[in-house]
Amino acid sequence: MAFGGDYSPEQWSEDVWTDDVALMRRAGVNSVNLGVFSWGLLEVADGVFEWGWLDRILDLLHEGGIGVNLATPTAAPPIWLLRAHPEIATVDERGVRTSQGGRLAWSPSSATFRRYALRMVRALAERYGEHPALRLWHVSNELGNENARCHSDETAVAWRRWLEARYTTVDAVNDSWGSAFWGHHYASFAQIEPPRFARGGHNPGLLLDFERFSSDALLEHYVAERDVLREVTPDIPVTTNFMIMSYTQVDDYARWAEEVDVVANDHYTMSADPFRHAELSFSADRTRGIAKGDPWLLMEHSTSAVNWQSINRAKPPGELARNSLAHIARGADGALFFQWRMSTAGAEQFHSGVVPHAGADSKIFREVEALGATMKRLAPVVGSRVQPARVAILFDHDSASALSFGRMPSDLVAPQDLPKRMHRAFTARHIAVDVVPSTADLSEYALVVLPTLYVVSNAAADRIAEFAQGGGHVVVSYFSGIVDDTNRVRQGGYPGAFRDLLKIRTDEFFPLVEHETVELDNGWVADLWTESLELRGATALTAYRSGEMADVPAITRATAGSGTATYLATRLNDAAMLHFVDELAELAELPVIADADAGLELVRRVGPDTSFLFAINHTAHSLTVRQGGTDLISGSRHDASVEVPAGGTVVVMS
Ligand code: GAL
Repeated sequence: MAFGGDYSPEQWSEDVWTDDVALMRRAGVNSVNLGVFSWGLLEVADGVFEWGWLDRILDLLHEGGIGVNLATPTAAPPIWLLRAHPEIATVDERGVRTSQGGRLAWSPSSATFRRYALRMVRALAERYGEHPALRLWHVSNELGNENARCHSDETAVAWRRWLEARYTTVDAVNDSWGSAFWGHHYASFAQIEPPRFARGGHNPGLLLDFERFSSDALLEHYVAERDVLREVTPDIPVTTNFMIMSYTQVDDYARWAEEVDVVANDHYTMSADPFRHAELSFSADRTRGIAKGDPWLLMEHSTSAVNWQSINRAKPPGELARNSLAHIARGADGALFFQWRMSTAGAEQFHSGVVPHAGADSKIFREVEALGATMKRLAPVVGSRVQPARVAILFDHDSASALSFGRMPSDLVAPQDLPKRMHRAFTARHIAVDVVPSTADLSEYALVVLPTLYVVSNAAADRIAEFAQGGGHVVVSYFSGIVDDTNRVRQGGYPGAFRDLLKIRTDEFFPLVEHETVELDNGWVADLWTESLELRGATALTAYRSGEMADVPAITRATAGSGTATYLATRLNDAAMLHFVDELAELAELPVIADADAGLELVRRVGPDTSFLFAINHTAHSLTVRQGGTDLISGSRHDASVEVPAGGTVVVMS
């Protein structure tokens, strides 16, 4: 199991490095991300390289038996480069150019930036490609975090080129975007601009394409760095750290995953989210989904508080280990922290680290040390895969993007909201779920869920219908299948892509205002959304008892070939969602991961002839999982059941 974190020794004098390596050994660290933001200290002036400090720390880490994920330092362009070439920086919607002082200030469409970055990458690879500590290349850092979208003139040229490659003629663009409305007709590609500041809102087709272009532009930069690394060091794997749950990110990671040797993700919990451990599980399942089930790496998470939310909650005892182990349970073969030693100066002074301001005599360091020992005991788990689920939640980046553009029936339909709620309900019932893009192979699933899958291509709609015809069970929620992949609304009644499959038709949406609820005639409570749905061959499972839609069906089901198609026209509250999941589990004969008390989070990883059942206790009392085996963490053997202490985790090997 990879264990360790981001290490920024450049912040410290070299005597601290010796202490660090000793503490790393004590904590069982075997893997650090090095050099992530160090370009300005390695190339101190244009073409002038100073490697001394990096040579010394790499040797020191190697002597300590610690492997290095060496970062190309391109996430932070040096001050001299930004001053010589301010045009490499991103420009926002209002034409404001990013200044020096932060990080990721560069535009992926800047040819000048690309030239300097690749020269740096080549120099680094040539110098350290054979260093015995080198395990993995870590390209840049969270590409798209601070540089997701650029609106510069140079970007505009790249954007037009991208459109031309996609559409060939400008009339095809006009048709796709419906640019006749508001008189936006374009006579040439040269007239098209990035979505710069405009009043009244941009065309949604343009916005969706600009998101795709921006993802591709960043991906192209990643690929350019990766190709230099592959050329110089063909045997060293290459990755970059994704941030799969970020609301503002632009990267379509299902596509990015094809270009990395191992999928790596960063994850941070949100202080204000009461379901933060469920959100973490959703994130980990999504990461595994784009990794196509292969083991992946948790490149960053925090030991405790971060410093970028308005209130940065610290993790109470035990949460650090539960968080790390939940990622491992869901397919990570390692868990690393940002960052090793908490900064005293610089932009992240109050971000937790492994070694806090208080030093190693601290709760956090002690917990990391204990976790390091656990990680060693989990070695047999490495390389095993999460047992394939029978349920898939479809989650696409296009839908998430399009849902965030606003000017829709309800801004409360947030891209991750329903997917997370449904994932949480299946997880609470100990039913394994995969979270996969709609391009995934669905053939092994019994149940496929489309929670607010707003953008659906014809090809995806056909595959989903075929899945049901072939005996699968499909659940479609409100506001799914509404637009095609050009972001144009499908005509003839909602939900256009699935009206025939579901045997229903809606002619108008009736979203509810915030905090308004409706009751269903089976006693369930729902909110957020209702619609004037008519049955066209489906049966109503329940209808609204109250509200403007009283007596209108709220959940429907139709037969589809040898399968079924269920429509959920409203957002169930948590209690109702659990009942709904119970009902679906019966319909699709979904197995539970193991027989266990409620409150335990269960995941099973399987090797060729071994099973590893992870049971994580998120409650304040001890709970039981009824399966025998050896708990890898405590080493104890159990015949028929294992007790999981309050806040603790067991990994039952059998
Ligand atoms: C990540 C980033 C790290 C660090 C961390 C703090 O997004 O990659 O460099 O800033 O956030 O939580």
